[in-house]
Amino acid sequence: MGIRSAIKKLRRLLEPILRIPMMSVLTSRLAGIGLLVSNWLAKIKRDRKTPYVCSFPHFDPEQSLSYLNEVYEDYFTYSGLASSAVEGKHVLEVGPGENLGVGLRFAADGATRVVSADRFRSLRPPEEQVEVYRRLISSLNAAQRTRLELVLDLRERDYTINSHICTYITESPLEFLYHHLAPSTFDLIVSRAVLEHIFDIDRALETMDLLLKPGGVMIHEVDLRDHGMFTRYGLNPFTFLTFGKKSWYMMSSHTGSPNRVPMRHYFGELDRRGYDIDILKVHAVREDGEEVKVHKKELEYGVDYDDNSVKMVESIRPWLNRDVAHLPAEELLVGAFFLVCRKPDSIVRETAKQMKR
Ligand SMILES: C[S@@+](CC[C@H](N)C(=O)[O-])C[C@H]1O[C@@H](n2cnc3c(N)ncnc32)[C@H](O)[C@@H]1O
Repeated sequence: MGIRSAIKKLRRLLEPILRIPMMSVLTSRLAGIGLLVSNWLAKIKRDRKTPYVCSFPHFDPEQSLSYLNEVYEDYFTYSGLASSAVEGKHVLEVGPGENLGVGLRFAADGATRVVSADRFRSLRPPEEQVEVYRRLISSLNAAQRTRLELVLDLRERDYTINSHICTYITESPLEFLYHHLAPSTFDLIVSRAVLEHIFDIDRALETMDLLLKPGGVMIHEVDLRDHGMFTRYGLNPFTFLTFGKKSWYMMSSHTGSPNRVPMRHYFGELDRRGYDIDILKVHAVREDGEEVKVHKKELEYGVDYDDNSVKMVESIRPWLNRDVAHLPAEELLVGAFFLVCRKPDSIVRETAKQMKR
């Protein structure tokens, strides 16, 4: 038996013990030492990489293409916008990750300016990205292809993009994008699995509010789960919420790990600014770690979660940090959500602000 399969077997044997909340908490404190060290190293090395830059690092070009198509199409499915609505518009994609395919699809549908901005660099080498773009182009219709040909110049192992239409800003966190971009530039700001990685979320929301035109729309998918940090080892899915704010910051501020900001915080910050907000729950956390896809305004008891899910939350609640310990189980069980919001025009905004005062 190889070492790997022995470790796997041991892990499987230990799983029921590790899932006991107290054991999860104790084990996570040991893992926390490793996280502290890696965060500190990332900080002093001013790391340009994050393990979270590729959602699916094992994907081949065909899988990357179908993932980027899913990401792109979800923006329209969940916002109710038609893809023709992007024609002539200015779009910002925050945190594109491994490739610029989503931004390119906006350009192919007629967006006149697309900015893709990421804090880290893609870990996917250009020669592999080229393969994804080649497949993307051949999947498009003639009009889309003609538009993309103006943007993308593909070579054997590399590519260039026409920066008048598509701009890739890298190594620049969303929180500071106002250094690169003028206020009220964008009609649409989108992101997928990004906002949960941003530690200064208030500054990030402030920046997007600044960059969005009045009447502009934002569509974000936010993943509230632990991204496998502890669940990968069989620990309780809420273990990452047991660390205090300061220790979590010290363990993860420079590695792009999840920020643990609860859903209601996003809602509150945007509501305060007078946004018209729609939230759709898209995943529910389950006791067995299985992914449950939901896509509903509210999780349904008996369908998306049950007494076992509630027990799983209640059993670890005494250890949860005080920012989340008071949240109802049905809120903690939301694994990811889609946020669609429209910025008010300035008159509505002033009135909304006054009414909230
Ligand atoms: C999990 S990946 C998601 C990538 C891509 N959107 C997808 O769906 O595959 C998170 C992305 O957010 C980026 N990111 C993390 N913190 C950021 C920040 N402060 N500003 C902009 N991008 C950030 C990461 O570099 C990474 O590309």
